[in-house]
Amino acid sequence: MKADDTTNPTTAGLLKLTDEEYTLIRNLIHHKFGIDLTEQKKSLIVGRLQKVLREKGLASFLEYYNYVTSDKTGEALGSLVNRISTNHTFFYREPDHFTFLLETALPELKRCIEKEGTKKLRIWCAGCSSGEEPYMLSMLVHDFLKLELKQWDVGILATDISNRVLTIAKAGVYAGENIKSLPAHFKHRYFRSSEDGDWAVKDQIKDLILFRRFNLMRPQFPFSGKFHLVFCRNVMIYFDGPTRDALVNRFYDFTQPGGYFFIGHSETLGRKTRTYSYVKPAVYRREA
Ligand SMILES: C[S@@+](CC[C@H](N)C(=O)[O-])C[C@H]1O[C@@H](n2cnc3c(N)ncnc32)[C@H](O)[C@@H]1O
Repeated sequence: MKADDTTNPTTAGLLKLTDEEYTLIRNLIHHKFGIDLTEQKKSLIVGRLQKVLREKGLASFLEYYNYVTSDKTGEALGSLVNRISTNHTFFYREPDHFTFLLETALPELKRCIEKEGTKKLRIWCAGCSSGEEPYMLSMLVHDFLKLELKQWDVGILATDISNRVLTIAKAGVYAGENIKSLPAHFKHRYFRSSEDGDWAVKDQIKDLILFRRFNLMRPQFPFSGKFHLVFCRNVMIYFDGPTRDALVNRFYDFTQPGGYFFIGHSETLGRKTRTYSYVKPAVYRREA
């Protein structure tokens, strides 16, 4: 059954989204955020945007499109991406990466960085959603460096396009249900439990992380330095091939020689990407 079928009692009263309107909205989202909405996502968009159309008293999706594109503050566009982005994430997702970090990448990088005479480690978690992934990385860095951490300058930049998830990430408070996949020692060492059953990330874990809103579609990345570890997991699956290839090339430019690039295990790097070397599934490296 079509989502815009007004004879369907579950969709009765929903504003219709015509094919022309969907094309306009789809192109806008692709152009601004790289997200490639397929034809199958049409009913999802109808559902997710109904409330905002009602709240704004807009009579059609064309009116909504005009409202978003004429809003110079960027707020309407921000609210659109909050509604359409897929933010699913959880603690300890794809743990092979964390084992690899502890056993291989971090020891190796530590040796290289120290050889260069510094103690500066830079990590970028791009598409960090509600914070589970960068907090995981911070916990691993603590576990790895232990008491030596005091002598190190470690920075984890955690970015996302959605302010809605960044607010959750910055708060760093999770329901017990959300941390149940975490091995117990992380939970006991790096979280405080509260009376209402929530778990708050300890300040020592938060202190390494800088959360920022950042659109990966920016043609130039504004960073002054390169990163030793770049995580962009389960983000590029929403982008089309050319968008993904161009983005991977920009990531490459901001990866330290010898540094690593991590993608989700269900993703692959296209053939046209520049010269990251394959290390193991979903792990790539910029040659030293
Ligand atoms: C499915 S989550 C992945 C979260 C985490 N990396 C993981 O693997 O669990 C994808 C995230 O990418 C973000 N995202 C999508 N397009 C983006 C863009 N153009 N710039 C920055 N972030 C984007 C979404 O807001 C969402 O939070």
